[in-house]
Amino acid sequence: MYNSFEELENSIVGCNKCKLCSNRNNIVFGCGNKNADLMLIGEGPGADEDIQGIPFVGKAGKLMNAAFDALGINRDDVYIANVVKCRPPNNRNPEKDEEMACLDYLRNQVILVKPKIIVLLGSVALKAILGNEYSITSSRGKWIEKKGILYMPTFHPAALLRDEKKKIDFYNDLKEARNRLENM
Ligand code: URA
Ligand code: SF4
Repeated sequence: MYNSFEELENSIVGCNKCKLCSNRNNIVFGCGNKNADLMLIGEGPGADEDIQGIPFVGKAGKLMNAAFDALGINRDDVYIANVVKCRPPNNRNPEKDEEMACLDYLRNQVILVKPKIIVLLGSVALKAILGNEYSITSSRGKWIEKKGILYMPTFHPAALLRDEKKKIDFYNDLKEARNRLENM
C-alpha cells in the first residue's frame, strides 16, 4: 500500500502483473477528484479509453456524462476508476486472475480517495468489490454498507446502450447516490 497517489501511480507504470499488459496502449489508472466523496467503479478500459488513457471517454462514458449533467454532478468532482486498468481484448470481461492481479491498485485508490459512497457500475465491479454472491439484478438500486463505505450497485452504462429501458434505473440510482451524499 502506498500513502500517496504519486507513489501509487508511479508503482503501476509498466505493470506486467497480468496478461492484459501485452495488448494495451495505455494503462487507464483513474481520473477525477482524489478527495472525492463519490467514487464510481467500472469494469475495464474499452478501445477509446485505451487510446486516451482516461476512463469512460467512449460511448458508455458519454451516457454517464449525460446522466451527470442531468443530475448536476460535475465529473471533475467525482473519482472514476476501473477494476482492471488495461483493456481486455475485444472488450471481453476481465478474467478472475486479471482482476486478482489488478485489484490491489483499486483498493489502494479507495483507501487514498476515502469516498463516502461508491457506485458500482455493473456486475464485474459488483462481484469484484463485494463478492461473487451478489448479482446486479437483485442488488441494483439497493444500498450496501461495508467497512464504513456505502455502495450503490447499478447497471453498467454500456448496458444502457443495449437496452434503453435501463436508463431510468441507472439515472435514479445515481440520483439516489447524489441525494444521500447531500444529506451526509
Ligand atoms: N467501460 C468501463 O467499464 N470502463 C471504462 O472506463 C469504459 C468503459
Ligand atoms: Fe497490471 Fe492491472 Fe494492467 Fe494487469 S490490468 S497489467 S495488473 S495494470
